[in-house]
Amino acid sequence: MNDGTSRYRDPASAPDYGHGFHAGNVGDAWKHLGLVEALRLSRPADGPMHYVESHAGEGRYRLGSTGEWSAGVERVAAAVDAAPPGAPEPVARWIELCRRLGYAGRSSTWAGSPEIARTLLGPGDRLSLRERDPRAHASLARLVADDPRVRVSLGDGLAALAEEARAAESAAASVLVLVDPPWTAKEDWIRVPDALADAVAATTRATFLLWYPVKSLTRPNAMLARLASRGLRSTVAELVTTPLELRRGGLNGSGLLAVRPPDGWTASMAASAPFVGAACATRRGAWSLRLLDSGDPPTGA
Ligand SMILES: C[S@@+](CC[C@H](N)C(=O)[O-])C[C@H]1O[C@@H](n2cnc3c(N)ncnc32)[C@H](O)[C@@H]1O
Repeated sequence: MNDGTSRYRDPASAPDYGHGFHAGNVGDAWKHLGLVEALRLSRPADGPMHYVESHAGEGRYRLGSTGEWSAGVERVAAAVDAAPPGAPEPVARWIELCRRLGYAGRSSTWAGSPEIARTLLGPGDRLSLRERDPRAHASLARLVADDPRVRVSLGDGLAALAEEARAAESAAASVLVLVDPPWTAKEDWIRVPDALADAVAATTRATFLLWYPVKSLTRPNAMLARLASRGLRSTVAELVTTPLELRRGGLNGSGLLAVRPPDGWTASMAASAPFVGAACATRRGAWSLRLLDSGDPPTGA
């Protein structure tokens, strides 16, 4: 488990990213809410489902006494408690799941996306998880060791993305792929959309969800334009909780880009955004949702 403090005496051996520090933040909230809805709505009437994740993380994180979670899940959970039965169903469902998986505020545990998928999938379903950092991979492998449905691989999830998705599609009635990179390098804004476009081209039915951070719209818009130039059809649900002109260097929001989303997914995100946005807005009432369907030109600058 990652408690957000460094375990690496030699900085050269440290990974360039540890998710523990960010666990439960507003980006995780938007991503996990969208993931829960995609898993629920992609469930086939018949036959197995296959969940693929290219950047799986450690699986579980210990929340400290303070941290980014207090401006993310904590605020949404408090708003749900203050609003029954007023919270939109997807939000109430996701918060209930967080609690079932151990979330209870400070010093509790935070279930990562592989834990969410393991919980919502059935006994005949499959999960293929990939993680590049050896220590995160070891934590994840320990966590799922007793689950025969799960295969965990150590390696580059982007390089394997097209092949993993194609192989999953050949054996499952429904496939959901989550791509959740750390976005630590500028080149990610080229490498990630290119790998996604290749994987979409290698498949015919799989649903893809890509999470990305929003600091300003410059990089997200360039990425969307790059994907459009590859002919990729997608839906984007982007939630901004700090006005972009106020804090250009921070995480002001995040987007989920969905390729072949299941019916109802976009409506779930649109219904959830006002509640999550109002709860997490760093300036009271100042949140915004950008919904795009491919073909629409990116808006904003
Ligand atoms: C944002 S975290 C994943 C969080 C997880 N999806 C969740 O929601 O609980 C990103 C993870 O990707 C890993 N990573 C970075 N580059 C990678 C790559 N090319 N292939 C696979 N994993 C990678 C990092 O070590 C980190 O654990």
